[in-house]
Amino acid sequence: MSRCKLIAGNWKMNMTSAEGSQLVEAIKELLPDGSDACQSGVPEVLVCPPFLTIGSVVNAARGSCVKVGAQNIHWEESGAFTGEVSASMLNEAGCTHAIIGHSERRQYFAETDETVNKRTKAAVKAGIVAVVCVGETLGERESGITNDIVERQIREGLKGLTPADMEKIVIAYEPVWAIGTGKVATDEQAQEVHAFIRVILTDMFGEATSGAIRILYGGSMKPDNAKGLLAQKDIDGGLIGGASLKATDFAAIVNAASQGK
Ligand code: 13P
Repeated sequence: MSRCKLIAGNWKMNMTSAEGSQLVEAIKELLPDGSDACQSGVPEVLVCPPFLTIGSVVNAARGSCVKVGAQNIHWEESGAFTGEVSASMLNEAGCTHAIIGHSERRQYFAETDETVNKRTKAAVKAGIVAVVCVGETLGERESGITNDIVERQIREGLKGLTPADMEKIVIAYEPVWAIGTGKVATDEQAQEVHAFIRVILTDMFGEATSGAIRILYGGSMKPDNAKGLLAQKDIDGGLIGGASLKATDFAAIVNAASQGK
């Protein structure tokens, strides 16, 4: 089963509208022609700016292969939910994807498997691709419970979804200890968890669906380690933080993905 790679930048709380637009302009200059992305081995490319700057980044990306996503999404359509943004608002703004359940949301903003599940369902219903994040902390890895944690996050986060829904879902495995630390998982460590995630997905949704789901790696992915990670059998792209803020680094990772498996 050949899966089209996806290289996604999570800008986190970085980049003003002006800076974000400039970054996308610079990325566009450096990217291969993505009009036939997924046909000729060119990956899909996504950037996820902060909510407020989505409009200007969508404008900057217009006419190019760069897609724009959000970093969160609320499960209700509208109402008294101060500080939240709904799926229809994201659709209207031109977002095609939304990151859900990032470990920083779980750690600092009380995100749980249950809220991840609600957000994921809302995204799918609205036709927005949900990039659902899972991953263990350093303590969990050292206690030997990585698989238990990841399995719980996958089973609870995707509870109630159908194989058809899974066409609108991408998984991102982001070991918390590798995020922003410069400590990247080795190719083998990452592949081992990705393969395990695919086993869980097969159990939940069947082999054909599981084989089509893209599983991204995130955590200190950089131009110099991307190629090895992206060559792994079950690694179908990257969710990139720090290195997505520099056009040359981000484009180099896209390039590494173009030459992968
Ligand atoms: P870094 O690439 O900065 O480690 O961040 C990874 C991440 O959290 C992407 O969502």
